[in-house]
Amino acid sequence: MSPRIVRTVAELRAELAPHRADGIGFVPTMGALHEGHLALLRAARDENGTVVLSIFVNPTQFGEAADLEAYPRTEDRDVALAAEAGADVVFAPSVEEMYPAGFATTVSVGGAVAETLEGALRGRSHFDGVATVVAKLLLAVQPDRAYFGAKDAQQVVVVRRMVEDLGIPVEIVARPTSRDADGLARSSRNTRLSDAERELAAALPRSLRAAQDAFADGVRDPRRLAGAVRDELAAAGLEPEYVEIVDAGSLEPIAEVVRPALLALAVRVGPVRLIDNVVLVPGVDDRIPLTPVERSHR
Ligand code: PAF
Repeated sequence: MSPRIVRTVAELRAELAPHRADGIGFVPTMGALHEGHLALLRAARDENGTVVLSIFVNPTQFGEAADLEAYPRTEDRDVALAAEAGADVVFAPSVEEMYPAGFATTVSVGGAVAETLEGALRGRSHFDGVATVVAKLLLAVQPDRAYFGAKDAQQVVVVRRMVEDLGIPVEIVARPTSRDADGLARSSRNTRLSDAERELAAALPRSLRAAQDAFADGVRDPRRLAGAVRDELAAAGLEPEYVEIVDAGSLEPIAEVVRPALLALAVRVGPVRLIDNVVLVPGVDDRIPLTPVERSHR
């Protein structure tokens, strides 16, 4: 059945009011849905009576106007895919609905969780934009559970911090990164890669896998593990914006991987900035499967 599309918070609240007792699952997105989003929707479908998808390209989390402009907008296709994955309601507000004239509040998460990695590269405003819009969306939907992909690992840590600090009554569920057969993390931005760039981008998961292989061989020094990533990227002619290994919970730097550590990277491939990560857990061998694919991936 086609989901009901609502554009205002008032309509959304009225639509959800009769369904609260059965549990509400929420998947916030910026649209251009891919298999990763659909996996989140299916998980929400399994665990809740009602499933809400939001589609809102949030201008406050984009640093570059060109990136915001180029962000794919495919609402009709998204709604059709969301219907198949079991969404009941699609909340697709306008910019004016989310940020009406006079809007003057920012939710800002401090400390390493927001200031390292993407925060260091994209500036404070990125996670301020994410935290503010996610807070607004959570207040609008008031879900029991909200679902996020582990590809945006730092976003999950920032949102968890915010939810705990503000006492927002919602369970944040992080689901594993969805990957193409050759390991590339699924992202709405991948559609902007040419065929040649898409082929180059396969070096990202290969580089993470090289570090996972070294980790499985007993390497615990973050510099050596990051070196394995850099070498693999360099072999493909790619220069990362960062390759960092940090504590998976606090995102603080570490001297040795003795607890779960987040290995995260950002790399520009052609016009597109891609991010990816894996968590290295001592005693756990969980490597990215890499299956070569024909280039008929789209
Ligand atoms: O991950 C995203 O798509 C966005 O950052 C989110 C959580 C929908 C907030 O705009």
